[in-house]
Amino acid sequence: MTPSPTVPVALRWQGDATGHLELVDQTLLPVRLEWISCRDVDTVVEAIKSLRVRGAPAIGIAGGYGLVVAAGEAVRDRMTLDRGRGHILAQAERLATARPTAVNLRWAVERCIAVLDRLPDDASTITMAEALLAEARVIHDEDRRLCAAIGRHGAAILPRGGVLTHCNTGGLATGGAGTALGVITTAWDEGRRFEVFADETRPLFQGARLTAWELVQRGIPVTVICDSAAGHLLTTGRVAACVVGADRITANGDTANKIGTYGLAVLAVAHGVPFYVAAPSSTFDLSLETGAEIPIEERSPTEVTNPLGVIAAPDGARAYNPAFDVTPARYIKGIITEHGVIEPVTRDRIRAVLATPSR
Ligand code: MRU
Repeated sequence: MTPSPTVPVALRWQGDATGHLELVDQTLLPVRLEWISCRDVDTVVEAIKSLRVRGAPAIGIAGGYGLVVAAGEAVRDRMTLDRGRGHILAQAERLATARPTAVNLRWAVERCIAVLDRLPDDASTITMAEALLAEARVIHDEDRRLCAAIGRHGAAILPRGGVLTHCNTGGLATGGAGTALGVITTAWDEGRRFEVFADETRPLFQGARLTAWELVQRGIPVTVICDSAAGHLLTTGRVAACVVGADRITANGDTANKIGTYGLAVLAVAHGVPFYVAAPSSTFDLSLETGAEIPIEERSPTEVTNPLGVIAAPDGARAYNPAFDVTPARYIKGIITEHGVIEPVTRDRIRAVLATPSR
């Protein structure tokens, strides 16, 4: 299943198992749409760390393809089987730890490594590369289907009226049409008409730069607001629901997502506006009991003091820059997954819904 041509694509594999990964350099949007070629693991790791590729599902897919790049390095450098396997495993760890909060990254890398473990001991490095490419493609294709299912389930429960979202959760952040943004675009494609509001999402402006860009590409009117305008907007009655994505969801439903999500959830609940999370099952980390256990990435202070390269604070001012926060499950009305909607958000309901077949 391929997304409609108006859905932006974040990444693609070029060539055979010794080919390379191509990524849209999301740091350049919305000014320029440029692809970068990743022919070595260093370039993939740098792209993940610097958010050239970003969004939990997309970095997972990039991690999977990153392992194929690692195997390609082993083939090119004519490594022995042992050295080749050792090289791939070492690169797997670098890829899996490139960003700490989104669990999809380690999940995808470990899933690919498990494929490697099932190969015979005497498998050549090219066989390893081929097996890794096949698995990375499966993960990518699966994500396309999961996004479509999330979009359908979410559109079915989205109340009539305006929708407010945070960060970017569309085609640029996934292998398909997106999670939270996929819910919005699916409802729109079904013929419903409503106002779409996008938080600008400081400090890196994923909402203003990327979500607004995706919606403009699709011809869906979008209104960008400063993050700090969300409370006021909610008092106006123009927002019937908030829908956001997730980077990691723990066994009790606590959800890590882009910084600012927690504040938005509290505001939504205070105004009686339902607050939904949309995420595939690969974003759940049931090994963690609560959100307190989720590692929160802290990024460079210069992202705050010099947003988009503009001096916004004087030399000498310090900045604190957590990239994610955790929204406690009690603020979340429902979690939209490919298996259906988890509502209410409780431990038991999470396990029960995730155990049903995706549909
Ligand atoms: O730092 P980012 O841009 O990778 O953060 C992205 C988010 O927080 C998204 O909401 C989340 O990854 C879900 S993407 C479908």
